Amino acid sequence: MKYDFEQVIDRHGTDSSKWDCGAELLKKGYTTRYDKETIPLFNADMDFRCAPEIIKAMEQVVARGIYGYTSIVDDDYYKAIQSWFFKYNNWKIKKEQIMLERGTITGIVNLIQTFTEKEDGIIIMPPVYSGFRDAIAFTGRTAQYCWLKCNDEPYYTIDFERLEKLASDSKNKAILLCNPHNPIGRAWKKEELNQVIHICRKHNLFIWSDDVHCDLMRTNQKYIPVASICDYKKIVTLTSLSKTFNLAGLYITNIIFEDIEMKEKYVQKCLGASASPFDIVLVKTAYTRCENWLIQLREYLDDNLKWAVERLRRNIPGVKCTMPEGSYIIWMDFEKCGMSEEDVRSRIIDKANVMLSRGIKAAPGKGNYSYRICAGVSRSVLEKAVNRIIEAF
Ligand SMILES: Cc1ncc(COP(=O)(O)O)c(C=O)c1O
Repeated sequence: MKYDFEQVIDRHGTDSSKWDCGAELLKKGYTTRYDKETIPLFNADMDFRCAPEIIKAMEQVVARGIYGYTSIVDDDYYKAIQSWFFKYNNWKIKKEQIMLERGTITGIVNLIQTFTEKEDGIIIMPPVYSGFRDAIAFTGRTAQYCWLKCNDEPYYTIDFERLEKLASDSKNKAILLCNPHNPIGRAWKKEELNQVIHICRKHNLFIWSDDVHCDLMRTNQKYIPVASICDYKKIVTLTSLSKTFNLAGLYITNIIFEDIEMKEKYVQKCLGASASPFDIVLVKTAYTRCENWLIQLREYLDDNLKWAVERLRRNIPGVKCTMPEGSYIIWMDFEKCGMSEEDVRSRIIDKANVMLSRGIKAAPGKGNYSYRICAGVSRSVLEKAVNRIIEAF
């Protein structure tokens, strides 16, 4: 079956965080222009309709008309997850390791609260998804920055010297990995992950790996789950249906613990999520029946990203644009374009009227010239947005 990613679906009037929150964003000062012509590409959710297999499975649950308390009773829920990660990533997961949670950030907050104390340090690698800093600040812990290094390409790598230094400080208890890394799109190679494992083992740090973008790899790239290449017990991996199957509003996250005692401790402290009938059906359907949809989606995203990155690089002198190995996010740095920060902002937001997230959130103090494009949209919308940005420069 051929799936349609070209169709533009009008999401206005659906309480979409992306398409309907202009007034709120203006009020909070997150942007200076938002009207019916604004193209919002700041949010990491896609504008494609879900796989028909998913819609049908949901409809069947809806048609039953009863949505009572539900538990994960049969093993098919776990088997779907186990087979998926084994088939694609050679990662063997036991049923007992898996726990449903209501959202990934909830999972991260709960991990922090269960396994660290107030004011402990959590290492993150900016530029990184701003939800990490928010979770750390919310729990009263301290974010310790191990800034990624970047060359002119631009290609980002881990600063292992700095990581070793931070890890050796006994106040720092965990590293929060992002694999593939939002917003710079790197999928960490085996050698890089091995170095992270080596350093964390040596200094007894937790490795919490947020892998929610892991199924959205470029077709020539590979995602390697950190837990699949070692036996380090302090690894916890957060996986989700959100990004892969465009179900972000349903917050279906599965956390995979390498140490069952850690899972028990988490449950004692934070419970974990109660399952809804939708969660169960969606996990089973997504991981067993939506493979073809995902293959076609990846091809579509590959083309979108290739087109947009090439066009931006060719037409905006000085701009640095990542080509993501995983995810649909492009990270752009306008620092070498010879303009002031305010000029860059105004060209993108006010003139092009494309709403992007600003780098100051992902890269505090360093990302003033950076912006993130989430390119999980139909090609015609992406073309309109990219062309408008180019014209504004
Ligand atoms: C790396 C990463 N982690 C977590 C989230 C949010 O996950 P959730 O909505 O499941 O809390 C996002 C959303 O963009 C993300 O990019």
